[in-house]
Amino acid sequence: MQDKKLYIETYGCQMNVADSEIVMTLMTKDGYSLTEQIDEADVILVNTCSVRENAEDRVTARLNKFKKRKKEKPEVVVGVLGCMAERLKTKFFDGNTTRKSKVRIADLVVGPDEYRKLPELVYKAWHGEKGIAVQLSRVDPDKIGVENYDDITPLRTNGLSAWITVMRGCDKFCTFCVVPFTRGRERSRPLQSILNEIENLSKQGFKEVTLLGQNVNSYSDNNYDFTDLLKKSAEVNRGMRIRFTTSHPADMSDKLIHTIAAEPNICNYIHLPVQSGSDRILTLMNRNYTSSQYLYLIENIKKIIPGVSISTDIITGFPTETEEDHRMTIELMKQVRFDGAFMFAYSPREKTKAWSMTDDVSQAEKVRRLSEIIEIQNKISYENNLTQIGKHVEVLIEGTSKRSDQQLKGRTDTNKKVIFPRNGQNVGDFVTVKIESVNSATLFGTIKD
Ligand code: SAH
Ligand code: SF4
Ligand code: F3S
Repeated sequence: MQDKKLYIETYGCQMNVADSEIVMTLMTKDGYSLTEQIDEADVILVNTCSVRENAEDRVTARLNKFKKRKKEKPEVVVGVLGCMAERLKTKFFDGNTTRKSKVRIADLVVGPDEYRKLPELVYKAWHGEKGIAVQLSRVDPDKIGVENYDDITPLRTNGLSAWITVMRGCDKFCTFCVVPFTRGRERSRPLQSILNEIENLSKQGFKEVTLLGQNVNSYSDNNYDFTDLLKKSAEVNRGMRIRFTTSHPADMSDKLIHTIAAEPNICNYIHLPVQSGSDRILTLMNRNYTSSQYLYLIENIKKIIPGVSISTDIITGFPTETEEDHRMTIELMKQVRFDGAFMFAYSPREKTKAWSMTDDVSQAEKVRRLSEIIEIQNKISYENNLTQIGKHVEVLIEGTSKRSDQQLKGRTDTNKKVIFPRNGQNVGDFVTVKIESVNSATLFGTIKD
């Protein structure tokens, strides 16, 4: 046994959070203990995101901070994991990582499909050997040699809510998106193994699981599709909430919508990225739907799942986006009235198709459009939340509120954050809360006796 300490920092999407839990399992099995103090660490791992340039810049700035630690303690091993590792590979050894800043600090670089090699690579790094592993998984119809970490139980620390990766990779190739290049081809875990994992989590007292995939609704295991997986997951323990993310509009079947409506413990919340309201831009993005198809889908979802909450992702300033295209996005937002949206200024990514299109919307204009849609969305979110006043909602208590330990926080099944005074309840309890006031991001209320 060694008594070395591992510090790990995670950026990017939930899949990276789930991957870091797999990394923690692999490393603790190899004898490392975890620390949250960087100054105590013998190994520093950074799980990174490449989705936009500013995501990469944030990581680069962090890596430059770690240089200081390396100076104080040169034997510390620093490893870059995740999507930036996959995208930039040896550039972490020879510098020249991002446009704005350079780092030449990494002792090892490991992509998302090679984490099994980490303990060995870290061991080698102790002996002065820089290591790199950035092969993406094969996709074999017989599932031989396909990496999905199916046999590794993630090291989960919160005990209440668990991420479960059910499929990895993406074959959609939206023209703006780097994910298909950093995560490789789509592959799904066997259904039974996912159900076993939920069963185990249920026995450990977990109250919520979120099924994860870059395109979770294109999950497929032989004759089972995502609807089958979702339905069977819900049947494991009716007292557990089942969530899922992210769905692609083109794979959103009627069968899936009906299943969400029919199964009481599948949460009535769908994150359904639209990206733009202009058909011309949607085609350039290779999204495979039109704005009217998207609107029809939303109408259907709202009809079949009463009270459903829907959120989205939107990009402003995609190449050639005009003011008129932008207005169409605003029009769509006003028609759908999303409960929430993640909104971004377009950021060109190397290797993608859009990289070769001229990035002709100025940064200032992208940001102006972005601010405009953020303001519109905030207003809509607030108005949607206003309709919750006076309602009784079921909340899973997740912890104490940041502002006061006399206040608890939790979420509704529609994924809205709720804050209410503590009244003898515990984290992990389901309670009914009467909503009394709201803002655009949060509902406030009191527990109903
Ligand atoms: N698989 C998911 C999410 C992928 S990344 C999906 O298909 O919805 C999350 C979001 O980041 C995307 O939905 C998109 O809105 C945004 N995004 C991805 N690439 C981007 C880029 N190059 N510039 C700006 N935003 C981007
Ligand atoms: Fe990226 Fe599109 Fe795949 Fe989502 S569906 S990960 S946006 S390529
Ligand atoms: Fe980022 Fe990779 Fe996730 S690019 S969004 S960490 S899949």
